[in-house]
Amino acid sequence: MIATAPQIGPPLALLAELSYRCPLRCPYCSNPLEMTAASGEMDTGKWIDVIEQAADMGVLQIHFSGGEPTVRKDLEDMVERAETLGIYTNLITSGVLLDRGRLQGLADRGLQHIQLSFQGADEVVADRIGGLKGGHGKKLETAKLAGEIGLPLTINAVMHRQNMDDLETMIQMAVDFGAKRLEVAHVQYYGWGLRNRAALLPTRAQLEHATAIVDAARERLKGVLVFDYVVPDYYAKRPKSCMGGWGRQFLNVSPSGRVMPCHAAETIPGMEFETVTERPLLEIWQQSDAFTRFRGTGWMPEPCRSCDRRELDWGGCRCQALALTGDAAAVDPACDKSPDHERIVALATNEAAAGSDDFEYRRFGEGA
Ligand code: SF4
Ligand code: FES
Repeated sequence: MIATAPQIGPPLALLAELSYRCPLRCPYCSNPLEMTAASGEMDTGKWIDVIEQAADMGVLQIHFSGGEPTVRKDLEDMVERAETLGIYTNLITSGVLLDRGRLQGLADRGLQHIQLSFQGADEVVADRIGGLKGGHGKKLETAKLAGEIGLPLTINAVMHRQNMDDLETMIQMAVDFGAKRLEVAHVQYYGWGLRNRAALLPTRAQLEHATAIVDAARERLKGVLVFDYVVPDYYAKRPKSCMGGWGRQFLNVSPSGRVMPCHAAETIPGMEFETVTERPLLEIWQQSDAFTRFRGTGWMPEPCRSCDRRELDWGGCRCQALALTGDAAAVDPACDKSPDHERIVALATNEAAAGSDDFEYRRFGEGA
């Protein structure tokens, strides 16, 4: 099908994946299965150029991410440049490499927000999932430091079958740290998450229990803590609007400069991604095949094409459609109008019931 290229405004946000290096090894990492070694990372000058191009395009937010973005010693320079260009800066971090000096330094250079991920509330569980002994303790210290420095904090609680019992405690932890926002995000199943799905996917009953906990806490903590709640699509009737629609609000720049509509887009076979070292960011955003292929509604199959939700969920998630049907252009099977929906629900139900605890840790590529 010929992709349509509707007129498109600037992206809201840039996700700058500065490095795939990370001291943690979470089995649901959103990074690709094959990762760029440190030598493939763009240098400071190239990243600054990306930030300047993003500002020229009208990008309002930059999320510094990875891997672990604080492995880059030049993070401060990037934060400062974004700040001087009037872009809101957020650091998405595991927190294990930060100390008071570094965090204060980042805040002094203009960092406006920190998003800290937790693998659980129990030290043994959390360290096992993250694959780093002592990691949980370091995260607790960083959360406390953020409060002392006065950096607005979001806690990101990644939930799955093996840490579901920690949910209440994680909510309380966010309150105790003075976080303003808690993202309770069930693992999404592509890349490493898909590879480890049998060990991570909750049962429907577990998911319903977690949802009830979040609903009750949301009510109880009104005005104290804002909740973002992301459920695994497998038990949904309608898919999420992944990334706010393909190529509509976000762009990801990988450590080596490849520009993608989402972090899992590389899983789509035959899709080529241009790099910011070869073509201006604006042109890639507006014209590249990778961004126009699934932008808008022209690419949609039926029943999406004539569905009244097509401009609400933009057809769901292309990477999930690929992972579950083998075709990135298929109806997202999370939707109950998809011919694959019942098969996916059955698969999820059986897999979650079988429940293995063994997972494969994320591995970083050779030469890291
Ligand atoms: Fe969304 Fe397509 Fe399902 Fe309609 S048919 S709800 S557009 S995925
Ligand atoms: Fe790629 Fe949803 S993760 S479109």
